[in-house]
This record gives sequence, structure tokens and C-alpha cells, in this order.
Amino acid sequence: MTFDFSKIFPKSRLAKLVWVLTLLVSAALLLLSTVFKLDGKVHADWQQFLGRFHPLVVHLPIGLILLVPLLEIAGRFRQALREAAAFVLSLSVAACLAAVILGYLLAYGSGESGVRVTRHMWGGITLTLAVLLCALVRPFWASGTPRRVLRDAYPCLLTVSSLLLLWTAHQGGSLTHGDSYLTEYLPASLKHWPGIGLAQATYPPASDSFYAKHIHPVLDANCVSCHGGAKVKGGLRLDSYSFLMRGGHEGAVVIPSEPERSLLIQRIMLPADHKKFMPAEGKPPLKPEEILLIKTWIAQGASPTVTSLAGITVREEEKPLPLVGDYSGLMAEIEQIAKAEGVTIVPVSRNPADGLVLNTVNAPTNFGDAQLARFQQFAPFIVEVELGRTSVTDACFDTLAKFSHLRALHLEDTAVTGVGLQKLTQLSQLTYLNLSGTKVGEAAVASLGSLKQLRHLYLYNTPAHPESAAPAGPQSVERSKARQAS
Ligand code: HEC
Repeated sequence: MTFDFSKIFPKSRLAKLVWVLTLLVSAALLLLSTVFKLDGKVHADWQQFLGRFHPLVVHLPIGLILLVPLLEIAGRFRQALREAAAFVLSLSVAACLAAVILGYLLAYGSGESGVRVTRHMWGGITLTLAVLLCALVRPFWASGTPRRVLRDAYPCLLTVSSLLLLWTAHQGGSLTHGDSYLTEYLPASLKHWPGIGLAQATYPPASDSFYAKHIHPVLDANCVSCHGGAKVKGGLRLDSYSFLMRGGHEGAVVIPSEPERSLLIQRIMLPADHKKFMPAEGKPPLKPEEILLIKTWIAQGASPTVTSLAGITVREEEKPLPLVGDYSGLMAEIEQIAKAEGVTIVPVSRNPADGLVLNTVNAPTNFGDAQLARFQQFAPFIVEVELGRTSVTDACFDTLAKFSHLRALHLEDTAVTGVGLQKLTQLSQLTYLNLSGTKVGEAAVASLGSLKQLRHLYLYNTPAHPESAAPAGPQSVERSKARQAS
């Protein structure tokens, strides 16, 4: 097949001008990133100012381009729509150019760089060229030229443009919202499909690890506003261990065992007025002790699992106690039962949310399991139960397990032997337990192992702690947080 170039190249002067312009614009777009390199440096303010209109303007080409095939199809039934398609197509070209230029200003102005930005950029440029070509070849298709190649070029290019559009828009979305934005709430069963590849994004470090307790909270409070799911500055996310280790545009930001070479450490240790200092934009710098924690953690291997670091003891912050519900409306009833049983039940403070204390000091000696059970209906409001020297037995654990807000429990000098003691492991807020002078043995005490909050466990004069029965021995065994951790 011979190809007569003069048949494609238009004869009218206006059309010639359009072709020349197209060639110039295409060349300019293709050379853009070579002339103005995305070098990761922040440039002029006006560029950023204009560039920030990109996310807004970018919706125009999306809407317009998708409209073109619809109008072409509908145009088979109504000629006017076909003419509209030609018009919308030329608008798409203009909209694409505007979006690409603003997008480039945004990336160049704010110092974005890296594979993801580059990918999105080339998507936008290729799309613009494809839409330009669409506009150029459409007249051949519309006039029904006998040359098939020329006639079919338009529908093919239009299909390619639509696919390119979807891909580029998705790349842009990933830039602003992170890779997993679309799939985050995908039903779990679909997440395992090949290609969706979410495994690495959801790497869960152990919840009691040093990372989870001391590193993540610092990054979360100071960095994630710019390096999280909503914004991914510098291509870096710091909202999970796997993201942290994946790094940003410049590669890894944490190099295990080499804090000095870790970009993250370098950036947080710059002078606060340095352009590259993190957190950026005048946000308050990390505290020296926070920097020390991160540095030491990296120096000792940046592990997601270790629970403690050599040479570092971190004082546990007291968590604010969870509040109990408002019992004011029940107070009359509560007091009535308390009076009948000869006990007192008093608020911890004037604030009902602080809960109630059940005190049996003045109760008759027969106060036992059945009497305690009468308070079960108020269990969620009671934060402290004082049962020392009452007649309760091992049966009381069934009732006490329902006191969901219990923080302190006195069972000293009672008949409990520890059978069923493990039911108390449901009491996640229990910090104080006194079992001194009971028959509770070591095995029963061991069953409390999962009670993380339990700081004070008193076992004086029990089989669990016979040595403390010695007169000179300590009055109590305090199981401190530190010993529990080791
Ligand atoms: C106000 C927004 C903002 C906050 C908050 C912020 N950053 Fe950044 N960060 C940026 C921007 C913008 C970049 C990209 C430009 C640059 O590299 O300076 C960046 C880049 C980085 C990079 C380089 C990534 C790479 O591979 O190029 C590191 C490391 C970093 N930040 C660490 C942190 C840490 C650690 C914190 C918290 C202590 C933090 N940032 C808080 C805006 C922020």
C-alpha cells in the first residue's frame, strides 16, 4: 500500500497552522521534564500557588474526555450530538493542557519528585498527546474517508485515551491518598486477590513492641499529618512500620543499626530553621528524649518486635482512667440495698463518672457471696470493692468478673483459695489486688498473668508467697510494671 502524505496533510492554511502548533506543543510537553527537572527542590511560591489549582482543574478533562465517546455513540441517533462531540473534544484538549501545566507547576514548585510523581506526570502528558491526536484525526472519521487506517484511527485513539485517563487518575489518587486508598475498605476476602497486593501495607508489629509503644506514637503525633494516608509528602508514609521501612522518594529513611546514615534521623536533627528540617512548615520539633528514643531504636536494629532496648527505660505514661456511666438516677436504689446489707457505697468524687466504692468494713460477719451478688446489677459503676475479712468464698469470682470497671479489689483474710481466680482476667482495668492472708496458691496467681494493668498484687502470708510469712519479710509483694515486663 502506497501512502500519499499529501492526502493526510491538510491543504487549508488554518489546518496547516493547527498541525504545526500540535507538533510544537507535543515537543514542548515531551521536553518539559528534561528542561525543568523534578529535582525534589522547592521552587517559586507563585508556582505552588497556581499549582494548587491542579487537583481542582483536573476534574475538567476527566469529565470532558469521558463525555466524548458518549456523545459519539449518541450522535449515531442525533446529528447535533455528533457536532457537540467535536466541540467537547477540543475543550478536552484545552483542559488537558491546563491540567498538565498546573500539575507540573505543583510538582516543580513544591519539590515533589520520585517514581510515583513521574509516573503520574507521564500519564498526564501521554493522555494530552492522545487527546490531541484524537482531535486531529477525527475529521477523517467524521467525513467517512475511504482510507480505513485513517478512519479507524479515531475510535482506537479515543479508547486508548479513556483507558489512559483512568490509569492516570488512579495514579494521581494514589499520590494524594496513598496506594491503598481505594482498597482500604475492600471486603477482606477480595484483598487476597492477586494484583491487589496489600500484604506489605498491613504488616502488623506486635502491639507491645517498643515500636508500637514508643516510636509509632511520636511519628503519629508529629509526622503523619504530612506523611500518612491523606498526604504523602516526599513519597513517605510514617503511619505504619512497613511504610516507615519502605522509605520515600529518596529511598530508605531508616537504616537498621545505622542511625547516623538514616535520613529520618538526619532530617529531625537539622537546625530547626533549616529548609530540610522535619517536621516541616514550622511545626514544633521533636523533644530531645523523643529523638533519643528513635535513634536508640534504630541503633539497636529498628526491630518491629523487640519490647525493650538496652540502656533505655521509659516511664509509662499513666493512661487516663476510662469513665463509668452515670448512676445518679440509681443512687436511691443503690443506697437502699447498701443499707439493708449493712455496707456503705460511696462515690469516689463529686463527678459520677469516677464511679463508686463498695465498702464492707462495718458489714455484719455474715456478708458473703449471696450479699455481694445483690450489687451485681450496679457492677459497671463500681470501681473499688473492699471485701477484706468478709465471708466471701471462691464463688465470689463469678460475681466480681462482672464488675467491668473494677480497679481495686480487697480480698485479704478471706476464705478464698484461688479456684476460679482466673475469671478476674476479664477485669482489664484492675490495677490493685490484695490476696494477703488467703489460701491462694502459686498456680492460681500465675493464671492472672494476662492482666496487663495489674501493678499491685499483694500475696503476704499466702501459699503463693510462703517466704513472706517470715516476721521480718516484706509486708507485701509488689509486682511492679518493670518486673512484669522482664
Ligand atoms: C507540614 C508537613 C510535614 C510534616 C509535619 C513532616 N514532614 Fe517530612 N516532609 C514534608 C515534605 C513537603 C517533604 C518533601 C520535601 C523534602 O524532602 O523536604 C518531606 C520529606 C521528608 C523526608 C524525606 C523523604 C524522602 O525520601 O525524600 C523525611 C525522612 C521526612 N520528611 C521525615 C519526617 C518526619 C520524621 C516527620 C515528623 C517528625 C515529618 N517528616 C513531618 C513535609 C512534612
